[in-house]
Amino acid sequence: MAINILISDPLSEDGIYPLRQEKELDLNIVIETGLTPDALKAKIKDFDVLLVRSQTKVTRDIIEAADNLKLIGRAGVGVDNIDLDAATEKGIIVVNAPDGNTNSAAEHTTAMIMSLARHIPHAHMSLQEGRWDRKKFVGVELKNKTLGVIGFGRIGQEVAHRAKGNRMNVIAYDPFLTAEKAEKLGVDFGSVEDVVKVADFITVHTPLLKETKHMINKDIFALMKDDVRIINCARGGIIDEEALYDAIVAGKVAGAALDVMEEEPFVGNRLLDLPQVIATPHLGASTIEAQESVAVDVSNDILSYFNIGTVRNP
Ligand code: MLT
Repeated sequence: MAINILISDPLSEDGIYPLRQEKELDLNIVIETGLTPDALKAKIKDFDVLLVRSQTKVTRDIIEAADNLKLIGRAGVGVDNIDLDAATEKGIIVVNAPDGNTNSAAEHTTAMIMSLARHIPHAHMSLQEGRWDRKKFVGVELKNKTLGVIGFGRIGQEVAHRAKGNRMNVIAYDPFLTAEKAEKLGVDFGSVEDVVKVADFITVHTPLLKETKHMINKDIFALMKDDVRIINCARGGIIDEEALYDAIVAGKVAGAALDVMEEEPFVGNRLLDLPQVIATPHLGASTIEAQESVAVDVSNDILSYFNIGTVRNP
């Protein structure tokens, strides 16, 4: 019997090559992106596998309608767009690709830090608008500044590595970070409060969980140094956007670089009206290499599940 696979977000065609060339299993691959929640709900009952990126919201409602679903593959790290409790209750396995986009996310974060420090997007726009404005775009160096990294998993560590290449000092917070590990990685470590008190740039790299929602809030902003710069290429919601807005308007925060926000797409978000803010539309993992890699990882998991009954990363 055919195994029906629905791909509901744009995925790298090279990345799903392992599925395309599979000969033993009878795979029926359907690609339909941009489905409304109702359309997905109506469709999902015919499928054994749902393969998504971050756009498709795999809600309880969708999962309850998914009578044949055995596996949800997330081509990326964050699984906050999937209702894990609902999937577990139905015995549906959820697999992600935790490593495939680490490098791209770290590179994007580094690009955001540099763009923020040197006003690159605004300077470029100003030139396009016909101005030669050198005084307005005086930046700051990264050398000898302190980067605070909140969340020191794979991506946080890669960002720190690059920051050290730019001769920054790094101080990190992570609930799993120990003194030995911090020393080995050549960074200082402390609580969130310790980190934000000394950092000139603060970048967040935690998943979005109950515990991390709005962890960077009004009280935490109050502890920061004046003229701090904030970067979020992880998940919207880790930073309380109202508190960030107020801190920028009050002159506490000199700039923010945001790749993610609580509601996406975030066109029209009032933070975008502030000249201190630069933003990209959730592009952290959007490279040819990362997209191929995450799609290959989940494709291999699907094959492994149907061939041998287990997955690499459930
Ligand atoms: C992730 O969680 O892997 C990233 O946010 C990338 C994506 O949007 O797929």
